[in-house]
Amino acid sequence: MKFFIDTANLEQIKEAQALGVLDGVTTNPSLMAKEGITGADNILRHYVDICNIVDGDVSAEVIATDFAGMIKEGEALAALHPQIVVKLPMIADGVKACKYFSDKGIRTNVTLVFSAGQALLAAKAGATYVSPFIGRLDDISTDGLHLISEIRLIYDNYGFATEILAASVRHTMHVIDCAKIGADVMTGPLSSIKGLLKHPLTDSGLAQFLADYQKGN
Ligand code: E4P
Repeated sequence: MKFFIDTANLEQIKEAQALGVLDGVTTNPSLMAKEGITGADNILRHYVDICNIVDGDVSAEVIATDFAGMIKEGEALAALHPQIVVKLPMIADGVKACKYFSDKGIRTNVTLVFSAGQALLAAKAGATYVSPFIGRLDDISTDGLHLISEIRLIYDNYGFATEILAASVRHTMHVIDCAKIGADVMTGPLSSIKGLLKHPLTDSGLAQFLADYQKGN
């Protein structure tokens, strides 16, 4: 399972990268705005900064919602750095743009996916990644993890190469549950990754080992 971090915060990206388990980064316009990154030039520069920190794919989202605009923006994003993956919304023009980029060998991430049908369309259009938002489904009392298992079944039935990128991961149990279901990738906050480290028996066991060492020295 690949681990992506879902942030535009360079310090958090550096911390996850230093842990040695980071496979990529996802961003979106809201995450950019949260870090105060505004204006097209600053946003493009920020993508390059992220690519220079992480070894792996960096999703960069188009703002246009029409086919021509998505192609123009997506080509500019893809030209920024070989690690860039063009992130496209799950709307009709996004699906068309996905097919266009897929035919050109430009990698894509189809985002804002909330149903198995949408995920099937993204795979048919040749998406590199599909991003079902599990946390936002949970927020409206719908089982986000069930969607991951439905997409896994459909993709396995037909051997689709599109990778299931479980997005809108909110906490560590989401990461573990996605791994059990067979999501190819998860993207979540740094806390969801660091939470995997934690167990009280690890802490108490280590404290005991160190105390016993001190007694003998
Ligand atoms: C995915 O690519 C999105 O950036 C993200 O996972 C959305 O998560 P949220 O629902 O926590 O905003």
